[in-house]
Amino acid sequence: MNNILKLKKITSAWILAILLLFVLAISFGITMRFNQANDIKLSPVTFYSLMTTHGVTMVGIWVVAGMMAVNYLLSRYVKVSNGLNLFAMALTVIGVVMLWLTTFVGHYHTGWTFLYPLPFYTAWEKWATPVFLLSLGVLGIGWFVWSVGMLWQILKRYSLPQAFAWQHFKKGHTVETPPFILITTVTLVGVIACLLTAVLLLILYFAEYFSKGTFTNDALLMKNLTYFFGHTIINEALYLGVATLYELLPEVSGRPKFKMTWYVAVAWNCTLLFVLTAFFHHLYMDFAQPQSFQIIGQVASYFASLPSASVTAFSVIVLIYKNPVKWSLTNLLFVVGVAGWLIGGIGAVIDATISNNFVLHNTLWVPAHFHTYNAMGNVLFSLAFFNWAAKDFQGIASPLRYDKTKIFWLMVGGFGFVLMFYIGGAYSIPRRYAEYPNEFTNAKLLASAGAWFAIIYLWAIIVILFNIVMKCIKMFSVSE
Ligand code: HEM
Repeated sequence: MNNILKLKKITSAWILAILLLFVLAISFGITMRFNQANDIKLSPVTFYSLMTTHGVTMVGIWVVAGMMAVNYLLSRYVKVSNGLNLFAMALTVIGVVMLWLTTFVGHYHTGWTFLYPLPFYTAWEKWATPVFLLSLGVLGIGWFVWSVGMLWQILKRYSLPQAFAWQHFKKGHTVETPPFILITTVTLVGVIACLLTAVLLLILYFAEYFSKGTFTNDALLMKNLTYFFGHTIINEALYLGVATLYELLPEVSGRPKFKMTWYVAVAWNCTLLFVLTAFFHHLYMDFAQPQSFQIIGQVASYFASLPSASVTAFSVIVLIYKNPVKWSLTNLLFVVGVAGWLIGGIGAVIDATISNNFVLHNTLWVPAHFHTYNAMGNVLFSLAFFNWAAKDFQGIASPLRYDKTKIFWLMVGGFGFVLMFYIGGAYSIPRRYAEYPNEFTNAKLLASAGAWFAIIYLWAIIVILFNIVMKCIKMFSVSE
C-alpha cells in the first residue's frame, strides 16, 4: 500500500474514533447539566466521575484532532511518518481505555485539572490514582514523540528562522514561509513545552506517592505546573485548528492562498511567547503567588489571544467580504468557528482582567468562555477539516442543499448552550456544583435550558457527521 493511501486510512480511523468519543462526551455533558437542573438524580460520585471523564476526553480528542489534521496537511510540504502516527494512535487508545477504567470502574473524580493534593485524597479505588496519572503519561508520550517527529520534518525543510518566518520582518527576503508552516511550528513548540512539563508534574506526583510520607510537594509549584500544562495544551489545540483554517479556507472558497505578511509573522511569534505565560491568570486568587506573575498573567492573556485572533479575523474578512466565494459546509464551519473563537476569546479576556476575576473566578463564566471557543470554535475547525478530508479521500463533494440549515441549528444549539453558562456566570453561580443550593434561584432553570440547547447541538453534530462517517468507513475498502 502506498504512503498516501496509508495516511488516508489512518486519518479515517482517527476521525471515526474522535467522533465516537465526541458524541459520548457530549452525552455526559448533557447528563451533568440535567443533574444540575434537578431533572435527574445522580450521586455526587457519579456526577464528578462523569465531569472528569468529560473534561479529559474532550481536551484529549481535540488535541489529537488538531495534531492529525496538521499531520495530514503537512504531507503537502514535508515527509510525514505513518509509523509515528500509528504509534500515537496506539498510545492514545491505551491511554483513553486506562482513563475511562479509572473513572467508571475506579470512580476516580478529581476533575480534569486533578489539582494537587486532590489525587491523594482517595475517595475512590486506591489503584485509580496511579492508573489515572499513568494514563496521562501514556497519552503524553504518544503525543510528545509525534510532535517532535513533525517538528523535525519541518526543520529538515526550513531553517529555524524560516520556520518562524523571521525573514518576513524585513523586506527583500527570498524564501516564503507559508502561514500554515509558521502556525504549526509555533504550536508544536508550545505542545512540546507543555508535555515536558506534564512529565515533570507526573514525576513529582509519583515521587510523593512512593515516598510513604517522607516527601511532600509544594502546592503552589504543583498548581503552576498543572496550569502551565493544562491551560497551554487546550490553547495549543485551538491553534492547530487555526493552522488548518489558514491552509484550507482559501482553497475551499476558490480564493487565492493566504500569503505570509510581516503582521501575520509578528502576531504568531507573539502568540508563541505569550501563550506560555497566560496560564498565570488561573492563579490570581493564590495570594502566595509573586505579584509580578499576576501582572504577567494579565498582560500575557491579552497578547496571547488578541494579535492572533485579530489578524485571523481580518484575513478571513478580507477573503470573503464582497468576493465571489464558493460556499460549502467546510468553509461555513470555518467562518462560524472564527466567530465562536472571537466571542469565547472576549469572554476569556474579560475574566483574565484581575479586577473582573475577583467577581467571575470559578463561576459559570469560566465554562462559558472555554466552551464557546471550544464547542463553537476549535471543534468547528476540526469538523471542517474532517468534512474536507472525507471529500479528499473519495473525491466526491456532498450537495450543499441542507448545509445552511445544519449550521443554523448548530449555532442555535451551541450558542444557546453557552449563553446559559454566561448568564449563570453573570449571576455569580459557581462552576462544578453537582446540585445547586436553593439560594441560587435561577441556576436550575438555566441548567435545564442549557441541557436542551445542548441536545439541539448534539443533533446538529450527528446530522453533520453522518456523511463524514460514511466516507471514512468506505475508505477501509479502498485498495490501490
Ligand atoms: C454541547 C456539548 C457540551 C456539553 C453539554 C458540555 C457540558 C459540560 C458541563 C455541564 C460541564 C460542567 C460545568 C460546571 O458546572 O463546571 C462541563 C465541563 C467541562 N467541559 Fe464541557 N460540554 C460540552 C462540550 C465541551 C467541549 C467541546 C469541550 C472541549 C474542550 C469541553 C470541555 C470541558 C471541560 C474541560 C470541562 C471542565 C471539567 C472539569 O471542571 O473538570 N466541553 N461541560
